[in-house]
Amino acid sequence: KKVIFSGIQPTGKPTLGNYLGAIKHWTSMQNEYDSIFCVVDMHAITVQQDPAELMKNTFNLLALYIACRLDPDKSTLFVQSHVPAHAELTWVLNTISYVGELSRMHQFKGKSQKHKENINMALMDYPVLMASDILLYKTNLVPVGQDQKQHIEICRNLAERFNSRYGQTFVVPEVYINKLGAKIYSLANPTEKMSKSDENEFAFVSMFDEPELIVKKFKRAVTDSGSEIAASKDKPGITNLLNIYSLFTNRTVKESEKHFAGAGYGKFKVEVADTVVEALKPIQAEQKRIAGDVAYMIKVLKEGAQKASAAAAKTLEEVYKKIGFITDV
Ligand code: TYM
Repeated sequence: KKVIFSGIQPTGKPTLGNYLGAIKHWTSMQNEYDSIFCVVDMHAITVQQDPAELMKNTFNLLALYIACRLDPDKSTLFVQSHVPAHAELTWVLNTISYVGELSRMHQFKGKSQKHKENINMALMDYPVLMASDILLYKTNLVPVGQDQKQHIEICRNLAERFNSRYGQTFVVPEVYINKLGAKIYSLANPTEKMSKSDENEFAFVSMFDEPELIVKKFKRAVTDSGSEIAASKDKPGITNLLNIYSLFTNRTVKESEKHFAGAGYGKFKVEVADTVVEALKPIQAEQKRIAGDVAYMIKVLKEGAQKASAAAAKTLEEVYKKIGFITDV
């Protein structure tokens, strides 16, 4: 069976973008692949986090994974910091990662603009930790949204670089970006990615938002001039809403356009909002139930960490041998 690995940072509240771009696809892929899904708390701390919030967000994200039908019996669900091999492999990969290539990454440049007071080493090292996540499990496919493409490319480069220097060790993974949901845009600025770290709360819909707030957010969503409900380049706002609607109703965008033919923007937005509210209701109820059962979550995390650690330790030992570390003591 081929291996897939992916993860989400427990920062802020997960958005429709995280769901439509990632989790939704993972849920169907887990039946076909040997699947590993991680809550990447070590990535989260590259930007300053409130410790109590971080812990709460980590549990909440795990509960969301399970509520979205990621099945702990089929897939390995775990928290990154529970498997020390991620940090250990990062150290090794750091020795073949160049400061130049890391400082040129889009995300590093963006985040150092945004967090000028805290351009820390880990922020720049972020892609190397991510490469370790992926390479430790001999991952074949990495299902992510469009914004992660550059990170997977550097991961592939590091794998090839290591293999050519020390001999075949890592599987060089492929990125898997499903066209549907690959990029969900901000409701406030529909040419930018919907992001959970947006300062404007009306720019994103969180998976945990109450129905009234979801409706309010969609009502306020920026639309375009004209009145026709059609997907096109010069209508990024309408196109984004049509996409979201289509993903939740399993329609094609063409079918959705037809469905809304003749309707005004106002009516359209309300129907999109109601559709999202209804789709999220059962997920939110289940998420709340699971998040209330800490004992269960701890059990899942223990089992997940055990499974992941066993696989990761094997790869790490192979790596240590290749680079000349003494392993048999
Ligand atoms: P993160 O936490 O920013 O996002 C998690 C996943 O959600 C996708 N995503 C989106 N997809 C479509 N539209 C959007 N607006 C949108 N916003 C987010 C992201 O593409 C991602 O798939 N670096 C990663 C986490 C990570 C990881 C990994 C992923 C750490 N290690 C190993 C894969 C493999 C990140 O920051 O994701």
